[in-house]
Amino acid sequence: SVSKLRTRIYEANREAARFFYAKLTSKEGAEGLAYLRNRGLADSTIRHFGLGFAPDERFALGNHLRSRGFTENEMIAANLVFKSRSGNSVLDRFYNRVMFPIIDVRGNVIAFGGRIMTDQKPKYLNTSDTLVFNKSYNLFSLNNAKNSKNDALILCEGYMDVISLNQAGFTNAVATLGTALTADQAALMKRYCKEVIICYDADEAGQKATARAIDILRRAGLVVKVISIPDGKDPDEFIRRHGDKGHAAFQNVLDNSGNDMEYRMQKLKSRYDLNNPQDKLNYLNEGVKLLCELDNPMERDIYASRLSDETDVSKASILEQVKQGMRRKERYRRKNEFSQLQKDISARDD
Ligand code: GTP
Ligand code: MN
Ligand code: MN
Ligand code: MN
Ligand code: MN
Repeated sequence: SVSKLRTRIYEANREAARFFYAKLTSKEGAEGLAYLRNRGLADSTIRHFGLGFAPDERFALGNHLRSRGFTENEMIAANLVFKSRSGNSVLDRFYNRVMFPIIDVRGNVIAFGGRIMTDQKPKYLNTSDTLVFNKSYNLFSLNNAKNSKNDALILCEGYMDVISLNQAGFTNAVATLGTALTADQAALMKRYCKEVIICYDADEAGQKATARAIDILRRAGLVVKVISIPDGKDPDEFIRRHGDKGHAAFQNVLDNSGNDMEYRMQKLKSRYDLNNPQDKLNYLNEGVKLLCELDNPMERDIYASRLSDETDVSKASILEQVKQGMRRKERYRRKNEFSQLQKDISARDD
C-alpha cells in the first residue's frame, strides 16, 4: 500500500544517511571529509548535520540497501537509485558527492542534497520529489531551527549558509531547497515564528529573490526584515572570513538589519540621482507607490518623513499623494470585485 511504501522510503533514506556518514568517516570518504573540513566545518558540526559522502561508484548504495532487505521498487521510489537504460540493473543517483540529509520537523530523513567537490555541473544534485518529499513544502534545517529559543527565523539560500550559521551559534537558520520561496514554505515558517530575516546572497539573483520573498512572507502575515551581507557573497563566506569572530560579526549585521520597507526604500533610492529634478520626481512617485502598500498609518508617516527629508518636498504633499494613491487602489479593487460578481452572476444564469 502507499502508506507502507512511504514508511519504507523513510527507512531507506535513514539507512542511506547512515551509509553516507560511515563512508565519510572511512578511507573511501577521505576526499569528502577533507572538503568539508577545508570549508571550515568542525567534526562536531559534520556529525550534528549527519553529513556524508557518496562514493565514486554506481552500485555502492544500491548493493548496501539490497543487503539490508530493501527492494528495488522501494529504492527507486525513494529516488536513491534509478533503472539503467537496459533495464537490467539499478544505478545510484548520488556518487562522488558530499551529502546533506534533509530532515523534516518530525525527524524523518526525507531527501538529500549532494554537492560535487569540483566546479563541475550540477553543483548540487537534490532528491526529486517523492511520496515523502516535495521541495516546495520543506525547508532545510527547520528541524533544528524550531527548537531555537529565537522568535525569528533567518532565511538563507543554501545548505552551507545554514550550517555555517549553526556552527557560529545561529541555530534559527533555514534554507529553501534550490527553488524560489513558496507560499507553502512561508506558511510552514509561520507555524514556528513571527518574524523572518531574509539573508540571501549579495549577488543580483539573490537580491531579486529577496524582493519576491518579501512579498510572499508579508502575505503570510510574517514580520519581515532583510540583511544585506556587507562583504562577501553569502552568509557562509561572510562568517568564514571573520574566523573565530564570526558570531560577533554576524550578530552585528543582524543588529543593523533593516525592516523590509527600509530595504525597499534603499534599493529604490540607489536607482535615482536626487540632484536631477526629473529623477527626484520619479523617485517620489515610486516611493509613494511603496507607501500605498502600507496598512499602518504610523508606518506610512515614518517613511513619508524620510522621503520628505531626502527630497526637500513637504511631508504634507507626499501624504496627500499617498492618500490619492490608496483611494485609486481601493476603487480599482472594488471595480474588480464588482466585475467578478457580474461574472459569477452571469455564470449562474447559464
Ligand atoms: P556553495 O558553493 O557550496 O557555497 O553553495 P551555495 O549554497 O553558496 O550555492 P548557490 O548560492 O549557488 O546556490 C544556493 C542554493 O541553490 C544551494 O544551496 C542549492 O540548494 C541550490 N543550488 C545551487 N546550485 C544548484 C544546482 O546546480 N542544482 C540544484 N538543483 N540546486 C542548486
Ligand atoms: Mn548558483
Ligand atoms: Mn547565489
Ligand atoms: Mn556559498
Ligand atoms: Mn551562495
